[in-house]
Amino acid sequence: MTDTEARADLVARAADAGARVALASFREELTVETKADKTDVVTQIDRDAQRRVVETIREKYDEPVVGEEEGTSKAIPEKGPAWVVDPIDGTNNFVRGLRIWGTSVASVVDGEPVAAATVLPALADTYLTGAERVTLNGDPVRVSDREDSDAFVVDPILLDDTTDTAGVDVLAERFGDFRRLGCAQATLAAVASGSLDAAITTVRMHPWDTIAGAHMIRNAGGTVTDLDGEPWRHDSRGLVASNGAAHDEVLAAARRAAGE
Ligand code: IPD
Ligand code: CA
Ligand code: CA
Ligand code: CA
Repeated sequence: MTDTEARADLVARAADAGARVALASFREELTVETKADKTDVVTQIDRDAQRRVVETIREKYDEPVVGEEEGTSKAIPEKGPAWVVDPIDGTNNFVRGLRIWGTSVASVVDGEPVAAATVLPALADTYLTGAERVTLNGDPVRVSDREDSDAFVVDPILLDDTTDTAGVDVLAERFGDFRRLGCAQATLAAVASGSLDAAITTVRMHPWDTIAGAHMIRNAGGTVTDLDGEPWRHDSRGLVASNGAAHDEVLAAARRAAGE
């Protein structure tokens, strides 16, 4: 087994372990705490799921873990290996009983992802990738082959507060339709598997929201850039992901949505 294969195996196991912890409390009565604002919520289950993910990583690797909840570091080291964890992505969906949420784990070396897993347990969907190809529940998947951007379905994962309304108007006018799943990693995995054609954020998100999905989209044949059209990195300001066929048009719309 290569080093990347071993890391791919572990991201799958760790994400699955965290997702099982969360699923056991899905649609149970929960105490919901708020963070930055009323929709930025967290529960004890987010912390429990993260602890389980970290324990699973620690069975094999003593390397830095970057994660959303307390007890992990918040920045990806530029040199060396690290693990990036979102124990529950889509907590707001989770606490409302909406099934679109999951656990994401990525393995990163020198700031670049080498393997990633997103497990959406309430939907029974597991997306995995290592050095190449992406699988959904064990079957290989690819980005969509749709070329007509008028028929694209696009997810505006997160838009700048000041341009939010205008940004959504740009997408509604430019593409066939849009969705906002409320779970960044589910959105990016859906682009990787061809269920969505593109996704954008105009603001800097946390690396645990995006790095697993960005790696999957590239390995599934898609394109992921920043708002300037440069290759996306975890510290980029925005993220523009597409099936590649009409990336220039998605990029232009993202820039307009960002007020540029
Ligand atoms: C959130 C979700 C959501 C995105 C937010 C994220 P969380 O993550 O991914 O889709 O719009 O910006 O914070 O807090 O549920 O892990
Ligand atoms: Ca959160
Ligand atoms: Ca998140
Ligand atoms: Ca989270």
